[in-house]
Amino acid sequence: MNDVTTAADHSARAFPLAPPGTMGPPREYDVLRRECPIARVRLPIGASAWYVTRYDDVRMLLADPRLVRPTIDSWPAPVEGTDPAGPELVTMMELEGPRHAALRRAVAPAFSARTVRRQVPRIRRLAEQLLDHFEAAGQPGDLVGGFAEPFPLRVVCDLVGIPYEERDFYLPLADAALGALLTLEHGRAATVRLRDYLAELIQRKRREPAADLLSDLVRRQDAGELTVEDVITFGLSMLVGGYRTSTMFIADAAVVLLTHPGVLAALRADRELLPYAVEELLRYLPVMNGSVVLLATEHLILRGRSIRAGEAVLPVIAAANRDASVFPDPDRLGLHRAPNPHLSFGRGVHNCVGMHLARLELTVALTALLNRFPRLRLAVAEHELPWEDDSPSKSPTSLPVCW
Ligand code: HEM
Repeated sequence: MNDVTTAADHSARAFPLAPPGTMGPPREYDVLRRECPIARVRLPIGASAWYVTRYDDVRMLLADPRLVRPTIDSWPAPVEGTDPAGPELVTMMELEGPRHAALRRAVAPAFSARTVRRQVPRIRRLAEQLLDHFEAAGQPGDLVGGFAEPFPLRVVCDLVGIPYEERDFYLPLADAALGALLTLEHGRAATVRLRDYLAELIQRKRREPAADLLSDLVRRQDAGELTVEDVITFGLSMLVGGYRTSTMFIADAAVVLLTHPGVLAALRADRELLPYAVEELLRYLPVMNGSVVLLATEHLILRGRSIRAGEAVLPVIAAANRDASVFPDPDRLGLHRAPNPHLSFGRGVHNCVGMHLARLELTVALTALLNRFPRLRLAVAEHELPWEDDSPSKSPTSLPVCW
């Protein structure tokens, strides 16, 4: 589908980004929500899109069947002559209709609340082992490299059957794929290589099945319930969506808690607040910032704006989560916020299939850190932290801490 340039593009705003070296969300969101809730923005990759920042609109759009999610290779339309015409690079997010429903049905039991509860002891053990190593390596230690990254990655590798020891190959590719909103061609090339890697991994699972989700899906493929493309699609979803958000969340949560001593002390004093803290951090941290891209399949009118078929719409979850009409005092991190109807796991048929697992990872990670390090603190000044500035979702690339 082509991106359509409209008269509005000439007055399109620059893509809002948090200042380098900060977490965000971008300050423009307050103004956009108030004055221009459906704004035309120019993306760094050249295309334009409608940027949607109010809670009600974002909530509605995430589940609106009149919009679809484009694959990384289909939007923005490749410049003529440069289209590699390779295999379709589709993840679960972009699958539609019966194919999406079948794949979702096949993997849903592995991600259900009940299955995830059964994994609590294993996931706690994993967190403890990683923190044993982290502590033994001495201080200051890098909480990203030592814990926030390996922990969710190990969880998803064990569950899905992705070899953890091959991470030096696929991690940089998955990061490039995730950063595609800012660096498109790099992201596309990386996704092609990830797809090839998965096709080969699936062959290995066929030869040597194991007790993991990919092997199970290969069995279902052999039974005619799924196609090999479905299995690749699922694997790709796990590589690009199955751990990085949790890594960013754990790292950002650590920064925010270590720079909000009052909140941290309250949490240490009353662990009953932990489930509220996890929900509030999910709302407060701008991890889901510009990560969902939709294309209108028909002409829509939204708050008086005319959105034509083929135009891109970005419902910005991180902006919706700070909408004062739903969250009083939205820029305050509060441990008693209830209800807390944040949109961080999306909505509708594409909502996050891994949300129970993600909540468990976040809860286990924070609990383990609080228990292990009663005096955890940043080892450098906050402004000295190095941030991932090449992505709309920001997290520190390393997080030096002492204890
Ligand atoms: C803090 C952590 C996480 C956050 C904030 C998050 C957020 C989201 C959001 C907002 C969506 C919907 C995207 C859309 O509407 O297009 C989504 C979809 C998805 N997430 Fe997550 N996620 C997290 C962790 C995980 C984990 C741990 C897994 C699995 C191991 C996972 C797997 C998926 C998959 C497969 C989809 C696509 C579902 C579908 O299209 O049917 N996510 N996630």
